[in-house]
Amino acid sequence: MKLINNETLGIVGLGLMGSSIAAALLLNGQKVVAVSPIVSEIDKSAPNRIRHSLEECYAQGLTVEKPDELLANITFTSDYSLLKKCWLVMECVFENLAIKQDVFKKIESCVSDEVIITSNTSAMPISMLQNHFKVPERFFGMHWAEPSYTSPFLEIVCGEKSPIEIGEQLHTIAKEWGKEPTLVRKDIRGFITNRIMYAMYREAFHLVENGYATVEDVDRACKNDGGHWMAFCGLFRYMDLTGLQAYHAVMKDLFPELSNQKTVPKLIDDIAKADGNGVFNGKGFYDYTPEEAKKWEETFEKFSFDIHRLTSSYNETIANISSTKITE
Ligand SMILES: NC(=O)c1ccc[n+]([C@@H]2O[C@H](COP(=O)([O-])OP(=O)(O)OC[C@H]3O[C@@H](n4cnc5c(N)ncnc54)[C@H](O)[C@@H]3O)[C@@H](O)[C@H]2O)c1
Repeated sequence: MKLINNETLGIVGLGLMGSSIAAALLLNGQKVVAVSPIVSEIDKSAPNRIRHSLEECYAQGLTVEKPDELLANITFTSDYSLLKKCWLVMECVFENLAIKQDVFKKIESCVSDEVIITSNTSAMPISMLQNHFKVPERFFGMHWAEPSYTSPFLEIVCGEKSPIEIGEQLHTIAKEWGKEPTLVRKDIRGFITNRIMYAMYREAFHLVENGYATVEDVDRACKNDGGHWMAFCGLFRYMDLTGLQAYHAVMKDLFPELSNQKTVPKLIDDIAKADGNGVFNGKGFYDYTPEEAKKWEETFEKFSFDIHRLTSSYNETIANISSTKITE
């Protein structure tokens, strides 16, 4: 397989992530064909959301190009056949296998065999999804974080049948999109960050459900411990920076006592089954009035620009002191 890279990308699914990824790609000079079967999404909600993100990026100095100029590079449509001009198409629909399968079939039926297709799935194994394709080698995981236009995060995940050389080329191209990507060379459910984050979520539920701490206290502790250094360095560097002997000693006694619960915790199960969806409808682990929900969303957006500025200002310094890696 050979990459075409004509700088026109397709996105299918224009919810929270599809819109966010579209804004990230437009910011980095790409052209986007944005597909959704939902009319109100292509007419209104996705263009509005993307415009708002680009306006914020312009106001915050992330781009010198005006939102209208960038928006001229995106086409909103419900017509999958417009994807044929793309060299890569990203699926970004609900985390539901039947819907993803249907979308893969529609994409594959209207693009040539050289076109790369990726999924933004949070945790479905890429090797499993790959088997739904006529040309399985064309398929990779491309896992973005929200907000995609400020976060440097991007995981590129190879399935069993994805050629590693293509994965490496996608990794290089993602750097041109302004990301600091990671390449997951061997497929594993949840990839890197979701495996780590979900281990944390499980332990957080364990502590709350067993009365060791409240939701508020767990949140405060995470924000002020990990939240204080994780934007600076990763877990392994942090252990080096703080003396790895102590970690070695603690692991022996603590690992056997950490939660290994296999089922969904009751706390989230009850809220989810009562249709709670956090700030999106005011019912989550905390309750929100519409005003409070809006304020949290706005403040998170402002923070994401501030943290982007702060971490970017350290990139050069960190690159210059970077020590030898023990493994690649
Ligand atoms: N929300 C996050 O922070 C986040 C982060 C990383 C990955 N993801 C993953 O990204 C994907 C999308 O998540 P989201 O948060 O944007 O969800 P969302 O609910 O905001 O959007 C889902 C979109 O799917 C599309 N869709 C629904 N049914 C469809 C169909 N039959 N055909 C075509 N399109 C259809 C619609 O455009 C809808 O807006 C999921 O796989 C999710 O796990 C989400």
